[in-house]
Amino acid sequence: MAVRKHVKRRRTDETFIVGWLKDNLAKDRYEHSLRVRDMAVRLAERYRVSVHKTTLASLLHDTGRSLPDAAAMNTFLKQNGITFPREHVSKSLLHSMAGVVIARTTFDVQDETILDAIRWHTTGRANLSMLGKILYMADHIEPGRHMPICKDLRKTAMHDFNATLRATVRLSLEYVIATNRFLAKETVDFYNELV
Ligand SMILES: [Fe+2]
Ligand SMILES: [Fe+2]
Repeated sequence: MAVRKHVKRRRTDETFIVGWLKDNLAKDRYEHSLRVRDMAVRLAERYRVSVHKTTLASLLHDTGRSLPDAAAMNTFLKQNGITFPREHVSKSLLHSMAGVVIARTTFDVQDETILDAIRWHTTGRANLSMLGKILYMADHIEPGRHMPICKDLRKTAMHDFNATLRATVRLSLEYVIATNRFLAKETVDFYNELV
């Protein structure tokens, strides 16, 4: 009699994660996540950062977007015992915190460097790890970002990381101000550290 072997798939298995993203994210967000992974991994190889950690952080960075809106993200965070400063009200900021909880609970990621990179991928912050900087950069200038400057930054990223990061943060600051969005003080700290 054939015995069916029970194969327990690791929750950090890349195929498992990609399948989850496909099932739980909107198509454009799913495709963005794969492009961020591809770009972040190229940067990790170039700048000698763990490809494994980079793969996990980049694939999981937008899992918080699986929640439909800011109210659902707020509820999810409260259910998981997460309190946050009052200014953290926008969906774009809440989803990075929700992503940390999902990475921990659904995918059993406990590595603080990975979780920290996910937590700060939207705003950045001073003293970010190299993994965090790579994720921030890849998220903001991946090939799906069609502004002409992003095309230039994707080229300079491979040989002048710091100047490219500074230009990426400046681009984000300009966008936040031009569109009347909440400017996180962490982004200002991040920029000041780079100039
Ligand atoms: Fe995001
Ligand atoms: Fe993203």
